Amino acid sequence: MTSADFTGIVDPFFRKQPNPEPKTDQPILPMADLDDIRDGDNFGLNKPADTSSFYLKGLNSMDWGLKNRLSRIFNRKSGRTVMLAFDHGFLMGPTSGLERIDLNIAPLAEHADCLMATRGMLRSCIPADNTKPICLRTDTGTTILTEMNHNVLIDEAEAISMNASAMAAMIAVGDAATEASTIANISRLVDIGQKYSIPVMGVTAVGKDMARDARYFSLASRVCAENGASIVKTYYTEGFENVVACTPVPVVIAGGKKLPELEALELAYNAIQCGAAGVDMGRNVFQSDSPIGMIKAVGGVVHDGLKPQEAFDLYETIKNEG
Ligand code: 5RP
Repeated sequence: MTSADFTGIVDPFFRKQPNPEPKTDQPILPMADLDDIRDGDNFGLNKPADTSSFYLKGLNSMDWGLKNRLSRIFNRKSGRTVMLAFDHGFLMGPTSGLERIDLNIAPLAEHADCLMATRGMLRSCIPADNTKPICLRTDTGTTILTEMNHNVLIDEAEAISMNASAMAAMIAVGDAATEASTIANISRLVDIGQKYSIPVMGVTAVGKDMARDARYFSLASRVCAENGASIVKTYYTEGFENVVACTPVPVVIAGGKKLPELEALELAYNAIQCGAAGVDMGRNVFQSDSPIGMIKAVGGVVHDGLKPQEAFDLYETIKNEG
C-alpha cells in the first residue's frame, strides 16, 4: 500500500522512477547514493569481541537497558556509587538539613553519583536540567507518627516520566504487620522494572523487634535479591562481609543517624572494605557542618581509596575554606 491509496496524491518517495527500469510493479523505495559504496576494511580481526562480564556483580544476564541505567549510577572505574538520599521527608517531614531542599540539597547534587528522593521533592526542588541519575522512591505510606511501613507503590508511569534510573522500595523483614505487603511491593516493583528495564533497589527497613546484626541483614538483603532487586540498600554491621557475600548483587549502605564525621567516614570505609558497592547516605551528609565537605570526603573513601583519617582531613579542609 502506498500513500496514494489513501489520498490519490502520489508521494514523491513512492513515484515510479524512469531509470533504472523497475523489475516489478513495486514502487522504488528511496535509496542513498548508489555509487561510492565503500567496502568495510576495519574488522579488527586480531581483536576478539569483548565477552567479559558486566562490571557489577550478579547483573550480567540483565537486559541492555537495565545495565545501561545501572552504568549511570555506578562509576565505571571504581564500580561504586555515592548516592545522596534525601527521601526522609515522606516519613519524617522537614527533618534537620531537609528544611529547604532547594537550598540545602540541590547544590550537593553535582557531587553525588545519584540522587535518591521522592517525586514531590524532585519535581519541586531539583532543577529539571539535573543530569545526575535518579533513584526514585516508589513506595509511600505511613509516617513516624503512626505505625510505619504500611506502604503502597506509586504508579509505574511516574518512574518513567521522572526518567528514573532506578526505583527504590522498602521491605520490613520480620515485622509481622508489614512484612508480607512490603515484600509483595518489591516483587511487583521488580515485575515493573523488568518490563521497562529499570533496576530496583530494595531497602531493608529494620523490623521492630529485630537485632541489627549480620544474620538479620543477610536475611533481609538476600530477600531483596531473591525477589529480583538489582541493588540492595542495607545497614553496616559487624560481620558485614557475610551480608555482602550472600547478596549476589551490589550492596550499598545507608548512613543511619548522624554520627561525628570521622565515625561516619569509618563506617563508609569499613563497608567498602567488606565489599560494599558504595553508600546511599543522607543524614551524615546533609546534617553535617559542611555537607559539601562531607559528600566529597565520602566520595574519596568510596571511589579513591582514602582512609578515614585522610577523608576526614579533606572534609576539614573543605569546611575551613567555607
Ligand atoms: C529510609 C531510606 C533513607 O533514604 C535512608 O535511611 C538513607 O538515609 P540515611 O543515611 O540518613 O540513613 O531509604 O527508608
